[in-house]
Amino acid sequence: MEEQSRSILITWWLGYIWSHTSTVFLEEDYNIIIVDNLSNSDISVLDKIKEITWKKLKFYDLDIRNLEEFEKVFKNHPEIEGIIHFAAKKAVGESCQDPFLYYENNVIWTHNLLKLMQKYNKKNIVFSSSATVYDSPKLLPPFSENDRVGTYNPYGTTKLIMEYMLKDLATFKWFNVVNLRYFNPIWAHHSGLIGEDPKWVPSNLIPYILKVANWEIEHVQIFWDDYDTVDGTGVRDYIHVMDVAEAHLSAFNQILKYREYLLENKIDSNRWYFDIFNIWTGDGKSVKEIIELVEKVTEKEIPYKIVSRRPGDIDTSIANAQKAKQVLGREYSRSMYQAIEDAWRFIQKNNS
Ligand code: UFG
Repeated sequence: MEEQSRSILITWWLGYIWSHTSTVFLEEDYNIIIVDNLSNSDISVLDKIKEITWKKLKFYDLDIRNLEEFEKVFKNHPEIEGIIHFAAKKAVGESCQDPFLYYENNVIWTHNLLKLMQKYNKKNIVFSSSATVYDSPKLLPPFSENDRVGTYNPYGTTKLIMEYMLKDLATFKWFNVVNLRYFNPIWAHHSGLIGEDPKWVPSNLIPYILKVANWEIEHVQIFWDDYDTVDGTGVRDYIHVMDVAEAHLSAFNQILKYREYLLENKIDSNRWYFDIFNIWTGDGKSVKEIIELVEKVTEKEIPYKIVSRRPGDIDTSIANAQKAKQVLGREYSRSMYQAIEDAWRFIQKNNS
């Protein structure tokens, strides 16, 4: 008998990770159902995904804050086996200016989703968390999954609240949950078809430098050079987005494996899976090292100026990469050079 494809629901909002993750699941023959209200998104990305994978996904243009509308998706798709939950707002600065926007969007979206998952008995979820939940000023890098958490801005607070909600539901409602704590992804598929090219001035380092390379911005501002790091500039654990995307597949497989194990061994199915993984390389690069790498890839000089510290920045954020390797069998596989090369290819294609 022909094996049926599995189906997953992906919640999308603005970000870039969902599209890359979709390509990974489509290539594994999953059926994908996407929800987004398109208020801030570029619909052409759906065609790009089709161009990469030669596969279609099912798209619902709806607002997941509206529970009634959102419920239709669960009604129409009883075949959904799991949810990959990306939908969230993610700008630290914006969250400090308007915390309620973040509470409303991130927490209420997630609350609605979880309510429907409970109602329709769809309890497998991979959640996009962030390294921002680590109490980094009080920790020594690399950060491990059982290190202490603490937040310093409303964005981080919403991520932590959502992690806690999921933990509660795992414990008391038998949800199967994997929280992935992303470090610093660099967004672009090697095809150059999907990636990050913000239309506004980016707040993150890599897209900012690439705009300088593309002559859209005059110079990079390095947020001070007196940190306790290799050259005084901030160090981060940058990771190719496709490594992040593939980690979602491993995480989801981990949940499925656990459910199959219960079934095969006739163990009471009212048991839950809960785990957290850093998504990560375990290695760090400074701002100046990244600038040098971009110069190599683009063959352009990147001018920079040292300016004052950005409030809230820490000197070093690096993941301990061991747990994902041991439990999920997953390590990153793409170099930083490749990540920047792919991001640059996307920018050039997107601007030609
Ligand atoms: N930086 C500059 N100039 C810039 C932008 C950044 O010097 O124009 C420096 C920062 O000081 C930092 C490094 O580059 O040392 C990286 O900064 P990013 O803004 O790219 O990334 P952050 O590590 O500050 O934050 C990112 C995400 C957050 C997430 C966090 C998790 O933006 O949403 O990683 O670790 F929470």
